[in-house]
Amino acid sequence: MIEKFKENFIFGTATSSYQIEGAAAEDGRSLSIWDVFCKKPGKIYGNHNGDIACDHYHKYKEDVELMSDIGVNAYRFSISWPRIFPEKGKYNPKGMEFYKRLVNELCEKGIKPAVTLYHWDLPLWAYEMGGWLNRDSVKWFEEYAVKVFEELNDSVKLWITHNEPLCASILGYYEGTHAPGHKNLREALIAAHHILLSHGAAVEDFRKFNFKNSKIGITLNLIPSYPASGSEEDIKAAFISDGYHNRWFLDPIFKDSYPEDMKEAYKEFIGEFDFINDGDLQKISIKNDFLGINYYSRELIKFSEDSKLNYKSVHGNFERTTMDWEIAPEALYDLIMRLREEYTHVPIYITENGAAFNDRVSRNGKVHDNKRIDYVRRHLKKIVKLNEQGADIRGYFIWSLIDNFEWANGYSRRFGIVYMDYETQDRILKDSAVWYKDLIKRRIIE
Ligand code: BGC
Repeated sequence: MIEKFKENFIFGTATSSYQIEGAAAEDGRSLSIWDVFCKKPGKIYGNHNGDIACDHYHKYKEDVELMSDIGVNAYRFSISWPRIFPEKGKYNPKGMEFYKRLVNELCEKGIKPAVTLYHWDLPLWAYEMGGWLNRDSVKWFEEYAVKVFEELNDSVKLWITHNEPLCASILGYYEGTHAPGHKNLREALIAAHHILLSHGAAVEDFRKFNFKNSKIGITLNLIPSYPASGSEEDIKAAFISDGYHNRWFLDPIFKDSYPEDMKEAYKEFIGEFDFINDGDLQKISIKNDFLGINYYSRELIKFSEDSKLNYKSVHGNFERTTMDWEIAPEALYDLIMRLREEYTHVPIYITENGAAFNDRVSRNGKVHDNKRIDYVRRHLKKIVKLNEQGADIRGYFIWSLIDNFEWANGYSRRFGIVYMDYETQDRILKDSAVWYKDLIKRRIIE
């Protein structure tokens, strides 16, 4: 069957600053929590770090050229906060210059810039002052956001305040697998709260600019949780997993409250929710122009007495990527239907979707990544179907433009539609990029 995308549906690619830029000490950039986390032995696969990464800071023209060749309509990237404010209250115009050049280059090629303000690289100075645990972080973030709005203004079409608050708070402050590597649930919930609050505050600030051509929202990574069996215990466990991953973020943004059942579940571990002040939820639930969703996989959940929240994740018999994530486009369908029913009618952008596989350059110099093509095709088909049913999904950004620093997995996972040779810094279009190019041109999917 042939399915068609509307003329104005946006096809894009996505990256983030620390994962691709490199140039860690250039033009006044100071350290972020990821620079420090990477230096801690054993935290990152192969003790890799983002010092050089894809050297995009120097090769951005080449990368924009690649995107132009593929024909993408938009490019989602993030700004490195420590380039813009290397010290508290000290603006660094040189750092901003890079993003201005990048935005100009994109606009010249007719590629719409979509900017994420926070994709996890908190400046070290902010961390040393308490990081997201300090309520003042909201003000620091606002100062930074306002400066970026001012400088890049409405040449940016989509603004995303935060990328995946779940990862920045829960993985960074509770599970300890991301920077800053803490393992404290109370801290994670405080961090999440301040991150969400800073989102609300930044949207409020953004409205004052009255930009005609740009929209603002937030990106959540949503992970649908399915019970592994029909047992009451598993159903309850799946609902808790949903609370932990999804509802804890969706509810304050769209329902003006944190989920009561989760508050109850967390209480015995974290004590009082005294970090939530009057008026906070009102601020967090400010109207967004759109919702960004990063979707990769689903979770299959079983009751388990061995974990704090009484659930564990198991695998079904779906095929998996090299992240060990199940390939589950059906779950994307269910997720969007549920969001529409339970949460919001604002336009949706899929701000990330993609897969890591063991890509190799073959003798003919090509990278035959058919599994990635299949992954993307299956997800896009669901998007067409959803839109036919009125889901209002306005765009899709493949994660990622290029293989890059995959956080705790270092350079061992390849998500790009462009292959990175880390020795030579050469870029090679994978078959998926060629396929994407054709898809964008024809706007149909078979
Ligand atoms: C993040 C990306 C990451 C990708 C694949 C998302 O959680 O936003 O930075 O590389 O997933 O793990």
